[in-house]
Amino acid sequence: MRRCSSVGRAGGSYPLCPRFKSPHRHYISASILTADFGNLEREVKKVEKAGADLLHLDVMDGHFVPNFTMGPDILASLRKITNLPFDTHLMIENPHRYVSTFVEAGSTFISIHVETCPHLDRTIRLIKKKGAKVRIALNPATPLCRLDYVLEEISSVLVMTVNPGFASQKLVPSTISKIENLKEIIKKKALDVDIAVDGNVSFTNAPLMVKAGANVLVCGTSSIFHPELGIKEGVAKLRKSLSYPI
Ligand code: DX5
Ligand code: ZN
Repeated sequence: MRRCSSVGRAGGSYPLCPRFKSPHRHYISASILTADFGNLEREVKKVEKAGADLLHLDVMDGHFVPNFTMGPDILASLRKITNLPFDTHLMIENPHRYVSTFVEAGSTFISIHVETCPHLDRTIRLIKKKGAKVRIALNPATPLCRLDYVLEEISSVLVMTVNPGFASQKLVPSTISKIENLKEIIKKKALDVDIAVDGNVSFTNAPLMVKAGANVLVCGTSSIFHPELGIKEGVAKLRKSLSYPI
């Protein structure tokens, strides 16, 4: 199956998607940025039990984005307690310097922002050499043409549907047509590239994003870490909004 093979295909020495053979058409990447950091192990176990496919780890440096979050030590600790593949999102300046560390800490997927990579091809090659899969992230105002000459080299694109840095923001509406346009480019080139979306992936927005062409959904406070729902209920409600069973 195309989507399963792309998301779950072997690429590193770390765990791959446990739902590799599942009939699910879309993948839920749980953004633990919004989890209870005082009880991370408990939160990750809940995410696993609820049936999320990936763990999305937002790394922020206070430069590229005006916020701080976790570093490689936290990833390495989490690596010991879960088999969920790590979907690591580097919102940092000079990611080239740190990608090896984050792969070694257990990442299956590494997202790097084009806005931070003057030598994008070189950084893509480094991530692949280290054995992880490459996602290229684009801020809402960054055009799709920044993917020219690299789309053939990567496993997926992370379309930021909010400006990166904080949870609980509102969708930037123009990103929906951006997903559609990207899907069209991928189709025309007959590539096996997934489209991940990150930011305000809510019960209402997720179906629009999927309809536009997204198949990896990064989920935070808008759905599976919704303040009024439990993680299990959030995952179930999200899958229901996409009209397929848990
Ligand atoms: C945004 C982060 C997201 C965030 C999305 O900078 O990269 O991963 O957690 O979650 P919500 O649903 O709160 O927008
Ligand atoms: Zn993210």
